[in-house]
Amino acid sequence: MVQAIFIFPGNFLWGAATAAHQVEGNNTNNTWWAWEQEPGRILNGDKSGLACDWWGGRWREDFDRAAEGAQNSHRFSIEWSRVQPTPDRWDEDALEHYREMARGLIDRHMTPLVTLHHFSDPIWLAEMGSWENDTVVAYFEAFVRKTVEALKEYVTMWVTVNEPNIFAALAYQQGLFPPGKKDLSSAKTVIVNLLRAHSAAYQAIHQIQPHAQVGIAPQYLSIHPKKSWSPLDLWSAGLMNNVMNEAIPRTLRTGMLTIAGSRKHLPEAKNTLDFIGLQYYTREYISFDLRKFSDLFIQRSYRSDAEKSDGNWLANEPMGMFEALRWAQQFNVPIIITENGVNDRDDRLRPRYMLQHIHQVWRAVNSSIPIKGYFHWSLVDNFEWERGWTQRFGLWELDVETQARRKRPSADLYAEICHQNGIASETVARHTPQILNTLFPDT
Ligand code: BGC
Repeated sequence: MVQAIFIFPGNFLWGAATAAHQVEGNNTNNTWWAWEQEPGRILNGDKSGLACDWWGGRWREDFDRAAEGAQNSHRFSIEWSRVQPTPDRWDEDALEHYREMARGLIDRHMTPLVTLHHFSDPIWLAEMGSWENDTVVAYFEAFVRKTVEALKEYVTMWVTVNEPNIFAALAYQQGLFPPGKKDLSSAKTVIVNLLRAHSAAYQAIHQIQPHAQVGIAPQYLSIHPKKSWSPLDLWSAGLMNNVMNEAIPRTLRTGMLTIAGSRKHLPEAKNTLDFIGLQYYTREYISFDLRKFSDLFIQRSYRSDAEKSDGNWLANEPMGMFEALRWAQQFNVPIIITENGVNDRDDRLRPRYMLQHIHQVWRAVNSSIPIKGYFHWSLVDNFEWERGWTQRFGLWELDVETQARRKRPSADLYAEICHQNGIASETVARHTPQILNTLFPDT
């Protein structure tokens, strides 16, 4: 067999991503913990509980696993409610815990990438109206200053807000995340405040660390009209693309939020991106449907013949990754893929999904798109929000009862990719022979 390799640029960041509430455990002082206590909110009534016990110290063994798997970076997030348990108190021990984690990465020759907001909020903030109340911007900025001061010795790459588009939609329009609102105008207010909070954080971080790299991490959904000949489907797909993909990051370039036909000037947001964090999972086909009144008449579906993940949650659509990266080029800043992965308990799809998506990343790198890193979601199975423990994204499987970890085959596959800084034909032949000929024709 001829051997070949798709090689990535030197210094490419290879890692996995995690989020505080999903892995730490015992996050009793945040909105998600409270939400988990309400009947019917989480599938099966699952609770985050000890999660992956990172607060109890198991981050160490999981960072060891990542380092042994040749990962040279890791993305983790800070739990605001731990750092600021009440509006008038900072918890220095919590900050020390995060300093230790960041140092722990450096000791393992891994670059930390730190997210400042990943879906969870302190209870006290919720009592003030959370992201609907404009005062959140000043509170968030103060929290960011405190955290960046504490971690600046170790961290220079920051994501201000994880998936502001998904957070606003799920928490304020679809009612699936706390505070469970179903109100389009609330969602719009929240988007404005998220953009303002990002902008304030951007300036604050640069004051403290002039050379910091600060970005945001929206989820990019590949959106196609279901019937490409239908003006109504085209219109719906265009609207969805505006709301889901374009509105937020464009504001960070232009200072003008244009969303669902309305415009708002946000001059402080202009040019507040040093990089864009891109999170890509799947592609949807969109049609116009009069019955979908509260969803802007948008009906969403997958390609019927696409391979699906557990519970038909995600469709394996690797070309959407290439499309996402081409799209992100318009912002003229480096791109980091801050999340990509699939829920797949038995690891039957993940190896293929991973290779096909990373292959598209390689193609994009070779079209001169400035991509600096790839973070797989996730390192170890973790608490999957409203789906509880039912969906498994980890390279490592977690037994929630015993805290035991078991390596999935994908962890070895990813380790080979990270180690070789590329995709070798031998790797594909060993792990996913069924796609060898499509990835390496004539080898
Ligand atoms: C989120 C993660 C989540 C993953 C899988 C992303 O939208 O940032 O927190 O676990 O998707 O649903």
